[in-house]
Amino acid sequence: MARKITMEKLIIANWKTYLSIDKAISLSASIDPNSNIIISPSMIHLAFLAEKFPNLNFAAQDISYITDNFGAYTGETPAAILNDIGVKYTIIGHSERRSNMLDNAITVKTKLNLCASKGITPIVCIGESIKDREQKIHLDVIAQQLHEIFHNIYDSDKDIIIAYEPFWAVGTGVLPLSSEIEEVITKVRKTLNFVDNRLFLVYGGSVSAENAYNLVNLDGLDGVLIGKASTDIEQFRSILKAIG
Ligand code: 13P
Repeated sequence: MARKITMEKLIIANWKTYLSIDKAISLSASIDPNSNIIISPSMIHLAFLAEKFPNLNFAAQDISYITDNFGAYTGETPAAILNDIGVKYTIIGHSERRSNMLDNAITVKTKLNLCASKGITPIVCIGESIKDREQKIHLDVIAQQLHEIFHNIYDSDKDIIIAYEPFWAVGTGVLPLSSEIEEVITKVRKTLNFVDNRLFLVYGGSVSAENAYNLVNLDGLDGVLIGKASTDIEQFRSILKAIG
């Protein structure tokens, strides 16, 4: 049985499609089952790793928006299949899927509903482009994204994890200032005040050993979503050590 994740200093490792199966296995084997970590490996590796490491928590990187059930849906990953392999979380609406794979407010909202119907906890990515920030409309853009996704749905009592990932901070080594992240945290919590008790917020985008401690200690932030740095055993260890 995997440890029950708490939403305090939560660490989500998005391995994207960086790793070979051998590297994914050795990295998984190095993770302490008592840590507060959710690993999101490549979709191809997910079932294998979830079976091989039953003491770890795993997330899918995406979920079907066509169906939540078994059936004739070639290439899809329905929530029922995540339930079947014991995976309790999924990322939805990642910026890489929004910009390259046609994810949008409608598909993300549908995926959120399908997660709810099967008890999968969603990790919903939101964030602004660099142009939005330069034009100083980033807070409105974020509020609009949240409104489109959460309006009229999700009135159940399930956990929701929101990942604030500014598009321009993903993979660039450039982060918003702490005050800028705090401003977004306040906006998100205010916009989603109707789900306040079950809402958890993490930051993603160029998280490293240098900035992780500061990030997890920001007021109102419950953890971090780490991409590239979580795929290197030494860098990942340094981040975990920094967070403490
Ligand atoms: P990096 O940490 O590589 O910037 O990626 C962030 C991310 O996209 C996590 O989902």
